[in-house]
Amino acid sequence: MKISICTVAPETFEGFLQGKVLQRAVRNGALSLELIDIRTFAGGSFRHLDDNTFGGGTGQVLRVDPVVKAIEAAKGGDPDAYVAALTPRGQVFSQKMARDLAELSHLVLVCGHYEGFDERIYHHVDGMISIGDFVLTGGELASQVITDAVVRLLPGVLKDEATQDESFETGLLEYPQYTQPADYHGDKVPEVLLSGNHAAIKAWRREQARLVTEKFRPDLLESDRKE
Ligand code: ADE
Repeated sequence: MKISICTVAPETFEGFLQGKVLQRAVRNGALSLELIDIRTFAGGSFRHLDDNTFGGGTGQVLRVDPVVKAIEAAKGGDPDAYVAALTPRGQVFSQKMARDLAELSHLVLVCGHYEGFDERIYHHVDGMISIGDFVLTGGELASQVITDAVVRLLPGVLKDEATQDESFETGLLEYPQYTQPADYHGDKVPEVLLSGNHAAIKAWRREQARLVTEKFRPDLLESDRKE
């Protein structure tokens, strides 16, 4: 899969690009990641990157012309490229959406910055994604969140079992997990996990996943019932 990220701040990806899982995905050919610097399409002048809003108001918005040029460069004529703008008005990101995006051959993510986009940029994208009901200073962190969630689902990046039982995949949160020591100052690992009885462990985990979900995210069970 190819992921192209259009951004005015490519330098903010430095740490993200050093992520172990991301690097492994690139190394084993599951992912090719490309940063497209929108500034290179602004004719070298900040005046051509963002500007005051027509009608007045504070803040600057990204201009349509360099962003559309960056989108076209990211697509590189690929008819299968899916372009998503990152914006609080988008569909709220979820594990289901991560699974759907992981099926794409080419995903182009477009990061907004400052006070947002010129409205006409939305005429050049296929969809909009928000990572939650809050406002970030730019789409860069949102693009990293989405890339992280998608890349770990690509074939060969993690062991298949690692992504099967985890939170949201089953409609429930993940069951509690433990490692050594079995007894931490009297706080003990549940007996059943030390029993070696695989059927009992499986049943315990299923029940615990339900209890954890009921306790911390009862809304997930509600939405399950509505479906
Ligand atoms: N840009 C600013 N806020 C955002 C959000 N919540 N999700 C995605 N992109 C954004």
